[in-house]
Amino acid sequence: MIELSGIEKTYHTGGVDTPVLHGINISIEEGEFVALMGPSGTGKSTLMNILGLLDRPTAGVYKLAGQDLTKLDDNKLSTIRNKRVGFVFQLFHLLPRVSVLQNVLLPFLYTDPYPTDARDRAQSLLKGVGLQDRMYFKPNALSGGQQQRVAIARALVNEPALILADEPTGNLDSVASQEILEIFDRIHAQGRTIVMVTHEAEIAAHASRVITLKDGCIASDEKRGS
Ligand SMILES: Nc1ncnc2c1ncn2[C@@H]1O[C@H](COP(=O)(O)OP(=O)(O)OP(=O)(O)O)[C@@H](O)[C@H]1O
Ligand SMILES: [Mg+2]
Repeated sequence: MIELSGIEKTYHTGGVDTPVLHGINISIEEGEFVALMGPSGTGKSTLMNILGLLDRPTAGVYKLAGQDLTKLDDNKLSTIRNKRVGFVFQLFHLLPRVSVLQNVLLPFLYTDPYPTDARDRAQSLLKGVGLQDRMYFKPNALSGGQQQRVAIARALVNEPALILADEPTGNLDSVASQEILEIFDRIHAQGRTIVMVTHEAEIAAHASRVITLKDGCIASDEKRGS
């Protein structure tokens, strides 16, 4: 499903070059649950942004579902991102001024034609994460764990094949983290491909494969026996 070959990333900021990723080669099969680990500043979020088509590599080839994305223009990339990728971030990234339900419907904003069952899908996902009685609340009236569950529903509403989560439990206490991880386990069991950044071995234990980055290179890549 995902094939990265020779991925390099150098940021150019204020006349300074910061090389971050140095020739990353990874292939990820459909249905894998990958934990991405490694020290702070090692390039995990940089790699996630590339995987999620939010940023482009400086060099190398990224194929998603067989399609070489390196040569596509920004419009095509955002169409693919919208259809195929769902994001969950450490700081939830919900829109504060609209309801929980409207937040989950956001990925449909530019979908044409607007799916007639969009609202049903959003409501049923919110039910699935236990928020049926919070749909018309604003995000700031929810706990952190509840906000992250909204973000997960939003990431799933387009039925993307790939879910990317960058430290999704990084701002949650252990009870809320556990609930979020159970949801990810469920999503994985439904056959979705998940890549999750985490600093904690206990969280990585939910994954079927652990890739560790160090200084912008892959330091280890281990599949767990089933
Ligand atoms: N826009 C940018 N411009 C310049 N340098 C950047 C930019 N974004 C990230 N970097 C640098 O790239 C390196 C990798 O950052 P990245 O956010 O990918 O690390 P990370 O592994 O996700 O770390 P953490 O575990 O702390 O989240 C860091 O040294 C960072 O300073
Ligand atoms: Mg990061």
